Amino acid sequence: MSQPTIESILQENRLFHPSAEFSQKAQIKSLDEYHRLYEQAKADPQAFWAHLAETELDWFQKWDTVLDWQPPFAKWFVNGKLNISYNCLDRHLTTWRRNKAALIWEGEPGDSRTLTYAQLHREVCQFANALKHLGVQKGDRVGIYMPMIPEAAIAMLACARIGAAHTVVFGGFSAEALRDRLVDGQARVVVTADGGWRKDAIVPLKEQVDKALADGSVPSVTNTLVVKRTGQETHMLGDRDHWWHDLQKQVSADCPAEPMDSEDLLFILYTSGSTGKPKGVVHTTGGYNLYTHITTKWIFDLQDTDVYWCTADVGWITGHSYIVYGPLSNGATTVMYEGAPRTSNPGCFWDVIEKHGVNVFYTAPTAIRAFIKMGDEHPKARNLSSLRLLGTVGEPINPEAWIWYQQVIGGGRCPIVDTWWQTETGGIMITALPGAIPTKPGSATLPFPGVLADIIDLEGKAVGANEGGYLAIRHPWPGMMRTVYGDPDRFRRTYWEHVPPKEGQYLYFAGDGARRDEDGYFWVMGRVDDVINVAGHRLGTMEIESALVSHPAVAEAAVVGKPDELKGQDIVAFVTLEGTYSPSDDLLKELKQHVVKEIGAIARPGEIRFADALPKTRSGKIMRRLLRDLASGVEISGDTSTLEDRSVLEKLRQG
Ligand code: WT7
Repeated sequence: MSQPTIESILQENRLFHPSAEFSQKAQIKSLDEYHRLYEQAKADPQAFWAHLAETELDWFQKWDTVLDWQPPFAKWFVNGKLNISYNCLDRHLTTWRRNKAALIWEGEPGDSRTLTYAQLHREVCQFANALKHLGVQKGDRVGIYMPMIPEAAIAMLACARIGAAHTVVFGGFSAEALRDRLVDGQARVVVTADGGWRKDAIVPLKEQVDKALADGSVPSVTNTLVVKRTGQETHMLGDRDHWWHDLQKQVSADCPAEPMDSEDLLFILYTSGSTGKPKGVVHTTGGYNLYTHITTKWIFDLQDTDVYWCTADVGWITGHSYIVYGPLSNGATTVMYEGAPRTSNPGCFWDVIEKHGVNVFYTAPTAIRAFIKMGDEHPKARNLSSLRLLGTVGEPINPEAWIWYQQVIGGGRCPIVDTWWQTETGGIMITALPGAIPTKPGSATLPFPGVLADIIDLEGKAVGANEGGYLAIRHPWPGMMRTVYGDPDRFRRTYWEHVPPKEGQYLYFAGDGARRDEDGYFWVMGRVDDVINVAGHRLGTMEIESALVSHPAVAEAAVVGKPDELKGQDIVAFVTLEGTYSPSDDLLKELKQHVVKEIGAIARPGEIRFADALPKTRSGKIMRRLLRDLASGVEISGDTSTLEDRSVLEKLRQG
C-alpha cells in the first residue's frame, strides 16, 4: 500500500466494464455516445457549450457571444445574466423538488439536520439579508471560515445571491493564514462559528478570527457574523461581532437573487503554487455554473432519487463544486458530514452511508487508505448496498486501494470514477463517465467532452503513447479560472508561459506529469513543480520554508516531499540553524509547532532534519532533487556535478 510506482502502474492492465444494467439507466450510456459527444465538442466547442448553457441553466438574459478568448484571458457567455443561487435554489421551488431534501447534514457529535429546497432557500435568503444588514454590497468580498455545518453552504449561496464574492478559508488553517487571505481579498465581513469539531477536538474558530483581525491588521473587515455551533464561551466585540441567530430574527426571508453578469466574480479560493504566497484563484459566475452543473450530472450520473455524498470540506474546491454548486444546481440531495476518518471512529463513513442510504459516494485515496488500515470488519459490519457509484479525487490512487474500494465498499458492482482536476480548473477534467467508459485501476481514463487534454513536452508537442510528459489543456473551457486575484501577470506566467505560446496557440500547463497509454487513457503521476500533496492537501514547499525561516532559530530551510503509505506524501524539512542555536528535541518540536501556527496543522512537517549546510549549486540554488532522494531514503540519482561542495551531501547522508 503506497503511492503507485511507475512499475506497478505499467503492469496495470485490468479493464472493468460497467454492468449493462448501470449503462442502460446512465446519463451517458455507451462509449459510442461518449465519443460522439467528445468529437462534437472538439469540432465546435462554442456550439457544444452554448447548447448546454441553454438547456441546463436558467438565464435572466441570454449571452451574445459564447466565448471571447484573448489568451490567456477568457470570457464565457458574454453579457449573459444569471445567478447561481437562483439556479441552485429558486428554479427547483416551482417543481416537485420543492420539498425534496437538498442538504442532509450529519454532525460530528451525532446530531443531524435535513433541509428541503424550500427550507434551504429560506435560510439563504435570510442569511443574504443579514449580510446586507452588515453593509455587504454587490462586488464586495466575504471571508468564510467555518466548520462543516449547513451554514457554511448557506453563507456561500447567500453571497452568490447578492453578488458578493466569497473566499472560503479551510477551518484547519491558522489565524496567520486566514489573515493573509483576508488581506489579499480585502474581505468586508467574515462569517465564522464559535467553534467546530475536528477529529474529536473542538477548534475555536472565532478565537482564530479574533487573532487574525487583531490590532486592525485587516482594515477592510468591518464586521463578523458568528454561527453558534459548539456553544463554548465566545468573546463578542462591541459593534464588530454579531450572532447569526440574533440577526436571523431581525431580517426578512425575502431576498430576490441579484442578476449577475456571466463574468462577475463568484469566488476567490486560495491555493498553493511553487513560488510565493498562495494565489487567489478567481472563478466567475456563468461558466463555473455550467461546468460544475454538467460535470456533476454526467460524472456522478445523478438520478432523481439519489442521495449523493462528497466527503470533502467546503474549504477546498471539491467542496465548492461537488458538495454545494454542482449538486444543488442539479436539484440533487447532497450530504454534508462534519466528521473525518479517524481511528477513534473507524466506521464513521460507513455509518453515514447506511443511515442515509447514500447511492453515490465521492472521497479521496488518502481516506480509502486510512480505512483499509483500520480493517475490513468496519465496512463489512454495515449495510452498504445502497451504493451504486464511487468516485475518488485529489491524488493518484494506487491500484491496490482502487481494488479494495471496488470490492469491499462497492461490493464489486459499482463503477469507480477517478477524477483528475484542480482548484484552477473549477471542475473535473479527466474522468470516466461511469456508464460509458471502462475503467483501469489507477487511471483517470479519458477527458470530459470539451476538454482538449494532451501530454506534451516543453515545446508543446504531443508526446507518443506511453511516453511521459506534462499534462496540458489545448482549448479554454467554461469552468477555467479567469485570473489570479489582483495579479493577472502571475496568472499568465504560472499557467500559460511554461510552454512558449506559438502562433497564438496558448496551452494551459497543469503542473502535473502524466502519460497516455495505447488506449488513450491518462495516468497522472503527480506534480512536476515544488508543490506537494499531503493527504490530498496541496502545499507549496516554499510556504513551509518561509514559515520555518520566520522562526529566530532557523537560518535556512529546504522542504521536500517523501512517499508516505497513508498520506501519499509527507513533509520533510532540512534546516540549518542560526549560530547561537543547537539541535535538540525541544527545538524540533518547537519548529513543528511554529509551522502549525503559521499555516495550520495540515502543514506540520512529518520530519525535520538539522543540517550544517544544504546542498547548493555554485550559483547558490538549493538542490532539492538531492534532498528528495535523501528524504525518501533512495540512492541519489542524476547529475551531482553542479554541486558546490560535495562534502555537504556526504554529511547529510550520514545523518
Ligand atoms: C492537484 C490539484 C480538485 C481536486 C482536489 C485537489 C492532484 C487531483 C487527481 C487524480 C491524480 C490528482 C494533481 C493536481 N490530483 N486529482 N484523480 N489523480 N492526481 O485540488 O488542491 O487544486 O490539487 O491534485 O496533482 O494538480 P487541488
